[in-house]
Amino acid sequence: MDKGTFYITTPIYYPSDKLHIGHTYCTVATDAMARYKRMRGYDVMFLTGTDEHGQKIAERAESAGVSPKEFVDGIVCGPNGIIDLWKRMNISYDRFIRTTDDYHIEAIQKIFRALYDKGDIYKGAYKGLYCTPCEAFWTQSQLQDGNCPDCGREVKYAEEEAYFFRQSKYAGRLMELLSGGEFLQPAPRVNEMVNNFLKPGLEDLCVSRTSITWGVPVDFDPDHVVYVWVDALFNYMTALGYQNDKYDDLECYWPCDVHFIGKEIVRPHSIIWPSMLMALDLPLPKKVFGTGWLIFDGEKMSKSKGNVVDPIILADRYGVDALRYFLLREYTFGSDGNFTNELLITRINADLANDIGNLVSRSVAMVDKYFDGMLPSEHESGPEDAELIAMAENLREAYESNMERFAFQNALAEIFKVTSRANKYIDETAPWILAKDEGQKPRLAAVLYNLLETIRICTVLLQPFMPDTCVKIFEQIGVDEALTQYDTAADFGSLPKSTAVSKGPVIFPRIDLKKELEELML
Ligand code: MSP
Repeated sequence: MDKGTFYITTPIYYPSDKLHIGHTYCTVATDAMARYKRMRGYDVMFLTGTDEHGQKIAERAESAGVSPKEFVDGIVCGPNGIIDLWKRMNISYDRFIRTTDDYHIEAIQKIFRALYDKGDIYKGAYKGLYCTPCEAFWTQSQLQDGNCPDCGREVKYAEEEAYFFRQSKYAGRLMELLSGGEFLQPAPRVNEMVNNFLKPGLEDLCVSRTSITWGVPVDFDPDHVVYVWVDALFNYMTALGYQNDKYDDLECYWPCDVHFIGKEIVRPHSIIWPSMLMALDLPLPKKVFGTGWLIFDGEKMSKSKGNVVDPIILADRYGVDALRYFLLREYTFGSDGNFTNELLITRINADLANDIGNLVSRSVAMVDKYFDGMLPSEHESGPEDAELIAMAENLREAYESNMERFAFQNALAEIFKVTSRANKYIDETAPWILAKDEGQKPRLAAVLYNLLETIRICTVLLQPFMPDTCVKIFEQIGVDEALTQYDTAADFGSLPKSTAVSKGPVIFPRIDLKKELEELML
């Protein structure tokens, strides 16, 4: 079963406000991937955390009348904070880094010094246009309609003594890296980076600030604090023990297998990050995958636009697993997608209540009714079986090839093709008619067995997406731990012939769309 290691990360989030459904999306996807790899036998390291320095945080703390550290402590570890949110969303991270952790701060100071000693960081003066919310300097030609090209907000002229990183030196290697097609995905993100940043000529990067204090001080020049992106990106390595003694996992997990990130932070991850690693002669991450945004009424969700959707409210109403499922089934990972409550409820009703929920309750109820909850061991196959069995048997392969490409939506669609087919199989075989004839009992037993076995296989593969629900389904269809394992998903017929079911509550109750939409608007 030992497949080696798999290191996956989410972005580390700015604790400037409560997180919304858009942030939750990327973390849920990372969690599904981490669980999938664990299920396949990989030794997984799943890292998440918070990116706590920078001007935006300092300003938010000031207006709240507290110190920056007190401010971020509240949002990260306080009631209903980020850690609570991930607990609620069932996020199985292995490590959580805060960039205000001492070991990280010390490591960043050593990294900055190492780059300086190598001559890849030098002192100069920065004159330019700065976007405060994005903590980014821009050149005039990079602006869009005179505003920040990332967030569209106003930029301000700023001038200060600063350290620079010789990013330009790595332009050739970066072009090669990005053109290779493996490092940055999906493909349209590569064109954006090459056309907007590499082709116009890569400039050196300003990597320190003197006008703010909430950051990691440059230890050999304490008027300067390290640019927040340098501080933030190295989290992926300091959290494994790079330049610190807190952890010792670098050899085991670095280079990272994949960084999942949102599309607006592709530039730091595919240009700044690899060039700094090149400067330090460190191995590069294997892949950066830029997801799309969840859009709300055509706009990116943000507190300032007042269109923030709270994942906790939705999880409380519909269940965490339904929300997790929806996020990964409804949207193509890598493209933008429009979020509406109607889409969420419609998807839950169609797939979870009507399709798999119904399949489980009908199948279990029939075993209960016709065989007192225990299938007999004498089974008789019939002409309707072959197609369903073949689909269930081939499912794992189709699922796996999609999961390996991060095509969560397609992996789930494959599973639901099989559950729909199983519902159709019930109509074709009409167990209620077979039940009327004593002589048809072995046929009836085979039909119900095929249903339970199909449910088992689908449920094994659903585990990364809906971990708690899968436990409940396994309980209802009488599956032991051993038959919940990934390897068993390709073996139709693993379930013992005389299996006992235990009828339980409805797994996904149908939701009254009209009523819910009215209530959610209140
Ligand atoms: N702190 C940086 C990341 C540093 S990683 C070394 C940051 N933080 S953030 O909190 O602003 O955003 C974190 C992630 O949430 C980003 O990947 C961003 O794309 C994602 N999202 C924020 N709003 C989103 C949506 N509406 N939809 C999807 N993802 C969104 O950036």
